Amino acid sequence: MTSREDTGTPAYRWMRPLLIGAVLAAQTAVIALAWWAGVHGFVNEVEGYSTERITLATEGTAAGVATAIAKSGIDTLEPGTEDWQRAQSIIEQLDLPGGARASIVDRDGVLLCHPRLRSTGYGRKLTPRSASIVGTAPLHLLDATVIVTAPSVSSPNATHAAADLVSLRIALFGVVLLSLTGVGVLSLISLHGSRLESVNRALAADMTQQSEAVLRTRTGMIYGLAKLADYRDSDTGHHLDRICTFATMLANRLRDAHPEIDDAFIENLRIAASLHDIGKVGVPDRILMKPGALTEEEWRTMKRHTEIGATTLQGIRRRVGNDPLLDMSIDIALHHHEKWDGTGYPHGISGDEIPLAARIVAAADVYDAITSERVYKPAMPHQHACALISQGRGAHFDPSVVDAFESVADEFHQASISLRPSSRQAA
Ligand SMILES: [Fe+2]
Ligand SMILES: [Fe+2]
Repeated sequence: MTSREDTGTPAYRWMRPLLIGAVLAAQTAVIALAWWAGVHGFVNEVEGYSTERITLATEGTAAGVATAIAKSGIDTLEPGTEDWQRAQSIIEQLDLPGGARASIVDRDGVLLCHPRLRSTGYGRKLTPRSASIVGTAPLHLLDATVIVTAPSVSSPNATHAAADLVSLRIALFGVVLLSLTGVGVLSLISLHGSRLESVNRALAADMTQQSEAVLRTRTGMIYGLAKLADYRDSDTGHHLDRICTFATMLANRLRDAHPEIDDAFIENLRIAASLHDIGKVGVPDRILMKPGALTEEEWRTMKRHTEIGATTLQGIRRRVGNDPLLDMSIDIALHHHEKWDGTGYPHGISGDEIPLAARIVAAADVYDAITSERVYKPAMPHQHACALISQGRGAHFDPSVVDAFESVADEFHQASISLRPSSRQAA
C-alpha cells in the first residue's frame, strides 16, 4: 500500500538541501560581484568626478591671477620688495577648491610666490611630487609664470577611506539582503515541498482507492463465476463460502510451518479457493447430479473437472499475463484432488510436489464434502469428518495440514454451522 514515505518525496528531500544551497550560493556570488563592482566603480567615479570638479573650478584661475598682478602695477617679483609682498598677498588670499593652490615661478621653475612660501623659505624649486599642475598663465613683463596645482587624485587617502565606508555599507546591505532573500527562498521551497507532499498524498490515496475498487470488482467477479459453477451440485453456493473460510483458517495456522505463507498468500488463497471446482461446468448434469454410484467412464469424466478448470484459468492467464492469484488458482483447480501419497488425480504427484495451496484446499474440500448433504449421500457429523481427516494424515493429506486442522477443528465446526443453510446441516 502506498504511504507518505513512498510517494516520491525521498528524492525531493534529497534534492531540497541541494536546491537551497545552490540558490544561496548564487545569491552570495551575485551580491559579492555587486559589492566588488560597486566599490571599484565608486572609487573610479569619485576620482574622475574630483578631477573634473577641480579642473573646472580652477579653470581660468591662473589667467585671473596673472591679470590681477598685471593690473596691480607690480614691476618686480624680487623677494622682499614691496611689489613682491603685494604679489605674495594676492597668492595667499586665494581660496581654491580641492586643495588647489596658485604659485608664481620664474623661468627656471623656482618658486617666487606661494601660499606657504613664508614658512618654507625662498628660492625653493617647485617639485610637484604630490601635486599636479591644472593651469598656467605667463607674466610676460615679469618673466615669470602663474601656475595652479591640485593634489593628485590618483591615490588620495580620503577617496579610499570613503571607498572603505561604502564597501562596508554595501557588505552590510548584502548580508541583510542575503538573509532576507534566504529566508524567503527557504519559505518558498518549504511551502512548495509541503504542497508537493500534499499532492502526492492525494494522488496516492486516489490510486489506492482506484486499486481497491478494481480489486473488489475482480474478486467479486471471480466469486460470482465460481458460484455459478458451484450452484449445480451444492447447497446454493454456500460450499464456496465455507471452503474459502476453512482454507484461510488452515493457512493462518500453518504460517509457522510454511514461511511462504504471508498475508498476500492468504488473501490470494481466500479468493483462489473459490475456483477449485470451476471445471465442473464441463461435467454433464447427469454425471454431476447422479444420485447413485458413478460408472468407471462417468468417474473419468468427473475427474476431468480438474483439468478443465486449470485449462480455463490458463487461457485467462495467457490473455492477462502472469498474476499470483491466477497462478495459485490454476494450482488449486488442477491439484486439489491430488493425495500426499501420490494416489490422487489428475497427475498422481505426491508430497511437496503438490502445491501447498492445493494441499490446504484438499483438506478443506474433503471436510466440507463429508459434512454436507449431496444428491448421492447424506451429511455426516463433524466428528466423523475429523476422524477421516486424521486417518488420512500422511496418506491423503499433508501431515502439517492435518496438524493444523486438528488444532482448529472446533473453529471449523462453528464456521460450518454458521455458513450452512439449517436444512442441510449435519447432526
Ligand atoms: Fe473438485
Ligand atoms: Fe469442492
